[in-house]
Amino acid sequence: MIRKYVIGSPMETDSVVVDITPSDGRIPKFKADEAGHMLTYVMDDADRIYGLGETVRGINKRGWHYVSNCSDDPNHHEDKTSLYAAHNFMVVVSAKEVFGLYVDTPGKVEFDAGYTDHSILSVILEDFDAIAYFIDGASARDVVRQFRGIIGKSYVPPKWGFGLGQSRWSYVNEDEVREVADRYDEAGIPLDSIYLDIDYMDGYKDFTVSDEAFPDFKEFVDEMKSRGIRLVPIIDAGVKIEQGYDVYEEGVAGGHFVKKEDGSLLTAAVWPGRVHFPDFLREDTRRWFGDKYKVLLDAGIEGFWNDMNEPAIFYTEDHLSEVFEKIDGYKGRNLDINGFFEFQGLIDGIPNNPEDYRLFYHEKDGLKVRHDKVHNLYGFNMTRAAGEAFERLCPDKRILMFSRSSYIGMHRYGGVWTGDNASWWSHLLLNVQQMPGLNMSGFLYSGADTGGFGADVTRDLMIRWISFSIFTPLFRNHAAMGTRRQELYALGDSGAFKKLVGLRYALIPYLYNEYLRAVRDDDVIFAPLAFDYPDDERACGVEDQLMVGRSIMIAPVYVQNARGRHVYLPEGMKMVRFRSMEDYDEEELPGGDHYLRAELGEVLTFIRPGCSLPIVTPAMRVEEIDMKTLKCLSYGGSGDYEFIE
Ligand code: GLC
Repeated sequence: MIRKYVIGSPMETDSVVVDITPSDGRIPKFKADEAGHMLTYVMDDADRIYGLGETVRGINKRGWHYVSNCSDDPNHHEDKTSLYAAHNFMVVVSAKEVFGLYVDTPGKVEFDAGYTDHSILSVILEDFDAIAYFIDGASARDVVRQFRGIIGKSYVPPKWGFGLGQSRWSYVNEDEVREVADRYDEAGIPLDSIYLDIDYMDGYKDFTVSDEAFPDFKEFVDEMKSRGIRLVPIIDAGVKIEQGYDVYEEGVAGGHFVKKEDGSLLTAAVWPGRVHFPDFLREDTRRWFGDKYKVLLDAGIEGFWNDMNEPAIFYTEDHLSEVFEKIDGYKGRNLDINGFFEFQGLIDGIPNNPEDYRLFYHEKDGLKVRHDKVHNLYGFNMTRAAGEAFERLCPDKRILMFSRSSYIGMHRYGGVWTGDNASWWSHLLLNVQQMPGLNMSGFLYSGADTGGFGADVTRDLMIRWISFSIFTPLFRNHAAMGTRRQELYALGDSGAFKKLVGLRYALIPYLYNEYLRAVRDDDVIFAPLAFDYPDDERACGVEDQLMVGRSIMIAPVYVQNARGRHVYLPEGMKMVRFRSMEDYDEEELPGGDHYLRAELGEVLTFIRPGCSLPIVTPAMRVEEIDMKTLKCLSYGGSGDYEFIE
């Protein structure tokens, strides 16, 4: 049962697609303060909180506070409160009740999940205007399903989007890209896509391709496609200011860029230097920008990733000139503790400065709205522009699409990756813990930069990370320029990677089917154990194992030098210790605590009673997978697995 409460005069976000008649009275379970901008719920010690999408920390969100304020921040430390997304949906599970709350507001909102006071959950709205959806349910899963039922079906990627993608910021020309494909093929490691980061563009201009780097882009796209490899270019939110550049000129002529209070265009800077930002909140701007993808679709491109769409701002012209003026005053001064910190603050405050987000305006439903009031909708609407364009331009084809920034509603148009993580063991665990929350908010096509984006990876970290990522729908190895090479042929003997990626391809029929089932049933693929074993207190506390689809549980290893790990089985299961699709051992284990060996390259998978895990013989490309090779690993039951396709 879902009840809708209107607080103030909220703006339409288009995240909810079902009409619900608003209820009178107060939101159940919560107490509102007098001003009406803070809702509180009193928790018992054992209460747990799930959801909130892309955030730091554990699966159970209790004990920290999270601020929905899409932020370009590559330092995903556990003291952060905001990452790139705003997913304002949570599920509260207590001994006496289970309910969900979705706070639909395009501005900032804070979820204090027992941070200020361990027994108080509070939701603090920066603005007074929001729609709150209160969801009563029989179980956490039921609450999630009801919620997903009102936000529309999740995006479905093309099947090849389940194959491995290789990415790196710095593949500067077609020879480098070709080399990546060659070396994967030589190593016998399956691969379906190679990502083109900003280096493919001409001067970092959206919808352009550097002639020098790719003399005949279409031909190159075809060449790669004839080998079964898709190229997936990046698109950034900022449009370079350059006379003669069609996107810039059309954008100015069509009034598509965001403006300041006085009506002049906002000039900010990102990769190309000075840019204007399209006003994606306007329907005609979305249409205009969306149509631009056509130039790349026409070249044979079938997938994109949208980036820097919080939007990230290196600086704005206005703020930068103020900083330069102030810097003059520091010249020649003896900077003492205060002087030095002021000076440092001045410089550190240049990128993504909150003041800059108050400098410009959108036109939303005919109204002029200051950016910070609708900040969290920007990335959503950039990706919506693309998704709506794909529906117009190629309605019969699935186009791969995922975005860095997102708001609930964007899950209908694409997936997300979790941004600029690092090659740290703690970020492997974070990847594991982020998946259920993302799924609850509808983002089924999601995953992290496998191996870590920033910092230098090690071979063992990559092996362990891949051993987990083989289960995530988005399976992409991506790294930052300047870091150690992390292509799977560049980390010593590639045999282990061949086996692990092969195992991924063997699992694709299962993973893709569970994906389609989750879309159909408004379900999650990655569930906390608590969703399936709500009465098992021990299971409810597990933070490093996940249910993946209906048939299996996984227990990834995320500690360096570990040769095994403790695993809790909420019931008897059949363990399959995979080394590859052909090489595995099976063991029936009783419920309870176990210490299980898991050497590097061994993947611990547990089949639930009465369930089956279908596997196929791996192929080098998803499209080459031969379903006739399918067999089922089962633990009791009929031994069959039901496909919904
Ligand atoms: C951003 C993206 C990252 C990309 C880089 C260069 O940091 O998050 O994935 O590689 O920009 O485009």
